[in-house]
Amino acid sequence: MKNNPLPRLDASEELRQRILPLCRLQRGQTWVDPLGRHKVACMDAGDADSVLELMDGEKASLAIHDPPYNLVAFEERELGEYIRWCKQWVSNTIVILRPDSSFYVWLGADQRNGFQPLPDFMVMMRQAPLRPRSFITMRNQRGYGTQKNWMAVRQELLYYVKGEPVFNVEAEYTDIPKILRGYYKEVGGKVTENGERGKSENIRAGNVWVDIQQVFYRMEENVSGCYAQKPLKSIERIVRASSTKSDLVVDFFAHSGTTLLAAELNERRCFTADVDPVFCEITIRRLEHFRATGRLGWQNGHPFEMELPEFEAEAAVDSVDAPFEPQLQATMF
Ligand SMILES: C[S@@+](CC[C@H](N)C(=O)[O-])C[C@H]1O[C@@H](n2cnc3c(N)ncnc32)[C@H](O)[C@@H]1O
Repeated sequence: MKNNPLPRLDASEELRQRILPLCRLQRGQTWVDPLGRHKVACMDAGDADSVLELMDGEKASLAIHDPPYNLVAFEERELGEYIRWCKQWVSNTIVILRPDSSFYVWLGADQRNGFQPLPDFMVMMRQAPLRPRSFITMRNQRGYGTQKNWMAVRQELLYYVKGEPVFNVEAEYTDIPKILRGYYKEVGGKVTENGERGKSENIRAGNVWVDIQQVFYRMEENVSGCYAQKPLKSIERIVRASSTKSDLVVDFFAHSGTTLLAAELNERRCFTADVDPVFCEITIRRLEHFRATGRLGWQNGHPFEMELPEFEAEAAVDSVDAPFEPQLQATMF
């Protein structure tokens, strides 16, 4: 049974060679949305000139970056070199942010290798002209490692600000009902329980997000072949909390195009990029597919199904015994 019809696209050189001729962008080229809202560039996020060219004088209100995490599975490089590279794309981003703007970065801690690179990145960021605002943990629904270790189910998200950007508290409520009871206070002579006084029946997201399902093949938003796709709900939460309608959002590590889609869904503009033409093409196709069908991804299909029909999904068996295939990134933290 093939639940994800395409193998990991970074790991299958033969498939990459077949997909490359289907890609509209080569390094140095930019796709401009015919509806005039978004752009997708094929570029190295660490290259200052490419970033300025993509922005073409515009400034962004929000950056959401999800770089490769310097793990063995993603071609680990020497830590100092990795952090120097991070410093470059962080600097390139700060230059193109508005005076009041937000900066989010997803990063991991490799528990088999000194928890790098998360703490090293945080220390490097102390030199940046940004203020730290929060350290968010997203809990994956599933993970591996219960035999000899605590199950690895966390993904880390750092939140910094430049100036005094917007933060929309209303966007912050989760769909989790309040369950904790027992804090009482007298209000106007009446003893009330804290649940009664709260503004909402639901809890706020806070900085531990436990209400977001990791992407897997059964979800409509799944993009087969992408190995590090973030859940749309997590990116939409950031977009709604830290920007307003028609603001410009940037993401220089597009991959499956989640930030671009979140921007489209929430009436923001997005300039995004990836160094790999294959992921640039997937990002563009994901937006086009959404505009044509209203679908968020390719559950049981894939972005190249017209040209490569032999990679077809077989019907997924709807059974609790069906193998679960989380994205690789989910197994790392
Ligand atoms: C962790 S994935 C991003 C996942 C994305 N948030 C999503 O939801 O699909 C990292 C991406 O960064 C890209 N990348 C790696 N090095 C890059 C660089 N120097 N400049 C731009 N993109 C790069 C990779 O090709 C990969 O697609």
